[in-house]
Amino acid sequence: MGNRGPGLGRLRSPAVARVLVARQLPEGGLDPLMAAGHELLQRPGDEPYTADELIGLSREVDAIVCILTDRIDAAVLQAGAPRLRVVANVAVGYDNIDVATATELGIAVCNTPGVLDETTADLAFLLILAACRRATDAEADLRAGRWTGFHIGDFLGVDVHGATLGIVGYGRIGRAVARRAAGFGMEVLHHTRSDTGLTGWVGELDDLLPRCDIVSLHVPLQDETRGLIDARRLALMKPSAVLVNTARGPVVDEAALAVAMEDGTIFAAGIDVYEREPVVHPRLLAAPHAVLLPHIGSATEATRRRMAQLASDGAAAVLRGDRPPNLVRG
Ligand code: DGY
Repeated sequence: MGNRGPGLGRLRSPAVARVLVARQLPEGGLDPLMAAGHELLQRPGDEPYTADELIGLSREVDAIVCILTDRIDAAVLQAGAPRLRVVANVAVGYDNIDVATATELGIAVCNTPGVLDETTADLAFLLILAACRRATDAEADLRAGRWTGFHIGDFLGVDVHGATLGIVGYGRIGRAVARRAAGFGMEVLHHTRSDTGLTGWVGELDDLLPRCDIVSLHVPLQDETRGLIDARRLALMKPSAVLVNTARGPVVDEAALAVAMEDGTIFAAGIDVYEREPVVHPRLLAAPHAVLLPHIGSATEATRRRMAQLASDGAAAVLRGDRPPNLVRG
């Protein structure tokens, strides 16, 4: 059949499939799978399965619905094949899944593009504002009872309005951040490897960094983006610059970022994602002017529900033999 993709062209779908739901999902998130009458395998609580448990369970199911901390590696996929037909990730990033092996084995992979763009862009902007204006330091002082009243030189930050914002990776989320920047009268530059043909495109990241007051990262985690912002690139930024990361932690060398804030190479950072979550580099925790959030870019009730439903929709589509729009291409 012309529209069959990975995992879609096998024998007829069982009318009722078994779906491993690896974690708790928002209310209504599994509706598409339940409406199709599939059997859901889900344990109470939100304890992640171990690697061995995932390997064992993948043999017994036709589909897995998982989140970004569930590592669906070659061992899980190989154990699941040939019965396992689809892995649906309740996240837009899918670096937790070995897509190349899934594709080889004919297992479809789905993600959640589109439904979290605005929510994640809101959080990127929150981090831009909070880091530029030192909101975390200032609030911590107040809460700790250290505030002695208004002082003309306290908690001086940098302006967001009128600043030059550099967006690294100019997909849906990067563009949603750019739309917000327009309201703050910012000049927006963006960097992608291939020319977008749009105003503000800068072909070399090394040329973009020195020109920006604020740099916001919106690239997926891939071999080429791992360690993209390292000590050398931090040194290209202005001493007054602010770095924001709502993409994936390993895109930034966390230790180098902490040092850059300690020694004034850059002014501040707003970070939502970490190299080894949930561990945060101790120097980053202690770094001056760091605003640190626990991976909450898409964390609103409505968005998390839409993400779960989109992942479930994708899994349900594959199980009935259709090609879902949110199929990840290997
Ligand atoms: C994603 O979807 O990849 C985010 O990191 C979590 O929403």
